[in-house]
Amino acid sequence: MRLSGKRALVIGGGGGGIGRAITGAFGNEGAAVVVADVDLARATEAADALGEQGATAYPVSGDVRSAGDIDAMIQTAVDKLGGLDVLVTVVGGQVAFVPAVKLHEMADEDWDTIYEVNLRYVARAVRAALRVFLAQGTGGTIVSVGSVTGFMAAPEQAAYGVMKAGILSLARTVAAEYSRDGIRMNVAAAGAIATAVANAHVATEVVEDIPAGRFGRSEEVAEAVVYLASDASAYVTGQQLVLDGGVSVRGPFS
Ligand SMILES: NC(=O)c1ccc[n+]([C@@H]2O[C@H](COP(=O)([O-])OP(=O)(O)OC[C@H]3O[C@@H](n4cnc5c(N)ncnc54)[C@H](O)[C@@H]3O)[C@@H](O)[C@H]2O)c1
Repeated sequence: MRLSGKRALVIGGGGGGIGRAITGAFGNEGAAVVVADVDLARATEAADALGEQGATAYPVSGDVRSAGDIDAMIQTAVDKLGGLDVLVTVVGGQVAFVPAVKLHEMADEDWDTIYEVNLRYVARAVRAALRVFLAQGTGGTIVSVGSVTGFMAAPEQAAYGVMKAGILSLARTVAAEYSRDGIRMNVAAAGAIATAVANAHVATEVVEDIPAGRFGRSEEVAEAVVYLASDASAYVTGQQLVLDGGVSVRGPFS
């Protein structure tokens, strides 16, 4: 029970992919969880599944594009759980939200959409969580699901890569500014993970370029998020843990 006694908010935790794997793992590890998602049915299903396992879990609906909804998610977590120790941000992506096109073809409004669903909300949620953590005086941990696109080229997903890079920058600043307050932020940066979204958009031939010879599993990302949320990673902050089956370290001759 690596998260025993931790009170967590997972934004985007109702999803069928990585988000759902994270909420499931958090329940297994003893955390009390508020599952936030734009799709209330998904959030409710995820929370109910945790409840059946004996975990404490509540669903909340909210759209990360709304500043008011972000604040409400944080407040609901504080109210339902009696405080907040862990914030996890999962919502993100590009192909699920706007067309994949080369940089010069990308429309301004699509760039803005990708900013809203990947970085603007993370920054807002992080700021709100910091205020809660500081008021409680007991520290806190933030984990954001990132991507290898945040530090590698992102063909036809330029905005997505820029936003994921921004999340890592935020984590570094949180490390520099709040470590003395017992507050940490890290990124779990995923490569190609087998989810419905990825399956619909990523060609299966991509597998041949992955040294591990397979896509990653949502549960493998969730395991990293558990570690980064737990006290086992107490001396780790401002970092990204890369889960990519070796893609980002592959040289031209491997
Ligand atoms: N799938 C991959 O291969 C892959 C690779 C690298 C990184 N990632 C990252 O993993 C994260 C999760 O991706 P996933 O594809 O597994 O999705 P997921 O299945 O975890 O679902 C994410 C959830 O976000 C919710 N959501 C969508 N828009 C929302 C909004 N506006 N407000 C609130 N909730 C909203 C969805 O309803 C869904 O339940 C993203 O940050 C993505 O960038 C995924």
